[in-house]
Amino acid sequence: MPIISIANSKGGAGKTTLCLVLAQAIAKAGKSVLILDADPNRPIKTWAARAADRGSEGAGALDNLAVDGDVSETNIVDKIDAAHGTHDFVLIDLEGTASVAVSYAVGQSDFVLIPLQGSQLDADQAARVIGLIQQNAKAYRRQIPFSVVFTRVNPAIRPRDLAHIEQTLVDNQIPVFDTRLYERAAFRTIFQVGMALHELTPDLVSKPDTAVENALAVAQELIDRLSGSAQTGREAKDVA
Ligand SMILES: Nc1ncnc2c1ncn2[C@@H]1O[C@H](COP(=O)(O)OP(=O)(O)OP(=O)(O)O)[C@@H](O)[C@H]1O
Ligand SMILES: [Mg+2]
Repeated sequence: MPIISIANSKGGAGKTTLCLVLAQAIAKAGKSVLILDADPNRPIKTWAARAADRGSEGAGALDNLAVDGDVSETNIVDKIDAAHGTHDFVLIDLEGTASVAVSYAVGQSDFVLIPLQGSQLDADQAARVIGLIQQNAKAYRRQIPFSVVFTRVNPAIRPRDLAHIEQTLVDNQIPVFDTRLYERAAFRTIFQVGMALHELTPDLVSKPDTAVENALAVAQELIDRLSGSAQTGREAKDVA
């Protein structure tokens, strides 16, 4: 049961959105998912409360998906420990600063996803998260696999900034997901209406199907990368 942290000390990088979208895609595929909502604004806890308020209609959004919104620096390690064996996947939505809770979560993770928007400012912050992952890998004497995921990417154009940042990452041997999370209204609407992506209809938001497809593709790449790094997970003792 992999523990996956979503981390970037840059506020607004797209952590919470990526976390919920991935959790929904994995849950829809029939795996049980627990989200530890460690964002102090509790956006995913709020989303789950909205889904619960929809009564039996909202039950579909919470199928296979549990949210724990009572996560703090003092209990995050215990919460991660307790989650072992209870769910197929645990996703941790972290806050947008470098905090003790972020360090603890990263140190306990089997994989860290770093959402990144295609600007240099965002890329500079991602370098800090990667530094933190490498420090934790040394401290815990094990590898902590990670990857950058480009998010809020315009599906229609490939801006030069993004291509340049991607090339810099590749040149520095930083793993980058082949799939990207696109800028889609559907990824905002789920928060407003307390729904799962697959429940959205075209009268609520345009092109919900393309958003579902995009979410599934990113989730599939995560699963593929997790299986690729199976031997380098929690048991491995080598330092990254
Ligand atoms: N793929 C996307 N498509 C459309 N809007 C997005 C996407 N990703 C993020 N957003 C929007 O960008 C804003 C910031 O996203 P989000 O809250 O996910 O970032 P965050 O990294 O969790 O922020 P914080 O550091 O404050 O926790 C939100 O308004 C969200 O709706
Ligand atoms: Mg957030």
